Amino acid sequence: MTASSVIISGLGTSIPDKVVTNDDLSKVIDTSDDWIRSRSGIGERRLAGENETASSLGAAAARAAIADAGISKDEVDLVIVGTMSPDMPFPSTACLVQAELGLGTVAAFDVVAACSGFLYILEVGAKLMKSGAYRNALIIGAEKMSSILDWQDRTTCVLFGDGAGAAVLSLSDQANTGVGEIILRADGSKMDLLNMPGGGARMPASAESVSARQHFLKMNGKEVFKNAVREMGDITLETIEKNGLVPDDIKCFIPHQANIRIIESLAKRLQVDMSRVYVNIDRYGNTSAASVPIAMWEARQKGYFGPGDNILLTAFGAGLTWGGAVVRWPE
Ligand code: UT7
Repeated sequence: MTASSVIISGLGTSIPDKVVTNDDLSKVIDTSDDWIRSRSGIGERRLAGENETASSLGAAAARAAIADAGISKDEVDLVIVGTMSPDMPFPSTACLVQAELGLGTVAAFDVVAACSGFLYILEVGAKLMKSGAYRNALIIGAEKMSSILDWQDRTTCVLFGDGAGAAVLSLSDQANTGVGEIILRADGSKMDLLNMPGGGARMPASAESVSARQHFLKMNGKEVFKNAVREMGDITLETIEKNGLVPDDIKCFIPHQANIRIIESLAKRLQVDMSRVYVNIDRYGNTSAASVPIAMWEARQKGYFGPGDNILLTAFGAGLTWGGAVVRWPE
């Protein structure tokens, strides 16, 4: 086949069963449904069970995506996982997913780009496919955020949730379709705004690091918020332009679900009605690298977009990292 495009041929999700509402949280920490809802738009989140991890959620989402693509697992020849809450520092969560799915010895690796993870693995996956070396790639955003949250820190623990979303990338001979131009950016000089200080070579685990709660996510919410509003707006406009389009050419906008106020400010900046912007933060909170693929799966199920439509994906997260992508759904 003379492939001219890389398309998203299948999507799948895996969302833990356990629902934790804001009211549930207000019974264990000093917070309220009103505060969480008005500041972030979150109403509830899903939390993984003891035996669920990024790899088990990721593998379940991947199985669903393979079925949705209508291919056999033997046709998958590359696995890339985006996660900031891996099962363990090494080996990669992608290797664990590959083994759990029984994918033989196909290449598998992780990309760490926090909440922008799915945009990064989409770019890496699509470009590797375009090289001609792979036929079907699994790209998976998978997180067990609950394992890296400080449940004594009300400024962060109320904001995140667990879950996974996966896509199969396949070669297609349909011209002008599939994954279009993607823009990725990062600014490591702002790494202090959102990180997990402990557990790496700078601060290996010790009795002191554990008692100082250094193995949990730390965030300067206000500063991250300001950067997210500015950079997601800029990169979205730039990405649309780089694809030779205008905002009206985009059928559905699928932003990372971190805060409804960030999403609304993006819609305002683009001058698009919120009816064209997919939102599910009320039900899942911020699932980091899983947020964009879960939202894309739901938006497709609900008919927000269909064959031949352009969709816009954008995300922002720790690093700092951010990105934008246009995808034209195959006919
Ligand atoms: O995925 C990418 C990364 N994440 C983001 O993009 C998140 C970006 N940031 C945000 O979404 C928002 O900044 C937050 C939702 C985290 C916070 O909203 P905010 O409007 O910036 O609130 P704030 O941090 O200014 O906090 C306001 C007040 C503080 O009290 P004082 O100092 O005004 O008395 C906090 O102590 O709210 C208090 N507060 C809470 N109260 C009840 C902070 N967390 C809570 C809480 N419940 N959970």
